Amino acid sequence: MRIIITDSYEKMGLEAANIVAGQVYLKPDSVLGLATGSTPVSMYQRLAAVHKTVGLDFSEVTTFNLDEYIGMSPDNPQSYHYFMQENFFKHINIRPENVYLPNGMAEDMIAEGERYEKLIAAKGGIDLQVLGIGQNAHIGFNEPDVKFAATTHKVELDEETIQANSRFFASASEVPRYAISMGIKTIMMAEHVILLANGKNKAKAVYKAVCGDVTPEAPASILQLHRDVAVIVDEAAASLLP
Ligand code: F6R
Repeated sequence: MRIIITDSYEKMGLEAANIVAGQVYLKPDSVLGLATGSTPVSMYQRLAAVHKTVGLDFSEVTTFNLDEYIGMSPDNPQSYHYFMQENFFKHINIRPENVYLPNGMAEDMIAEGERYEKLIAAKGGIDLQVLGIGQNAHIGFNEPDVKFAATTHKVELDEETIQANSRFFASASEVPRYAISMGIKTIMMAEHVILLANGKNKAKAVYKAVCGDVTPEAPASILQLHRDVAVIVDEAAASLLP
């Protein structure tokens, strides 16, 4: 693991954007795995700026998002489909047909998980996966568990995750209880991974990811076994690292 500690949230986004931009420059038809949430917003803003100012070209790029809430249609402003449009896709020249997220409206989530995995494989697999991390060390929506879930699957969100995500909703009771998420194997199959975190409330999770035992109780800890992970964190999120 490479650890990059920055002195601000914006610089965390800048470092991450540099890695993503480098990937796209070197391989214009890259397959990117993407995350939602507050953490990657500065990275998306920076990438959009690089697209605008120096023409970073996303026209051949394919993206697969980590997850989506179950029961949320893409036009719901709280859906991850909507989030990605607003925060990234509408600011770059990606082709709509090259954008994939799990379908939270699918009737059969097992079939949807299989469909999503097949799509990723058909596109040649993920070149670079961007991850945030939950306070409970989840990646995607792989919550602490007794085993690592392998592929894209339905998950029941932890109370801690529901509370954390309630900031995007009128109240915690409105946060969906279920999501569909890439699994740990899906994430670990990516060629390169970057894990982003900022803020003191992520310090424990970052410690577990980088220094803790590899255990499904702290799903991000599995990344210690990946051959190419960069952990990009601000000083607050890095504060418990030795
Ligand atoms: C989002 C995702 C989650 C978030 C994590 C952190 O697609 O998969 O793992 O990355 O919950 O969320 P924020 O960045 O809002 O703190």
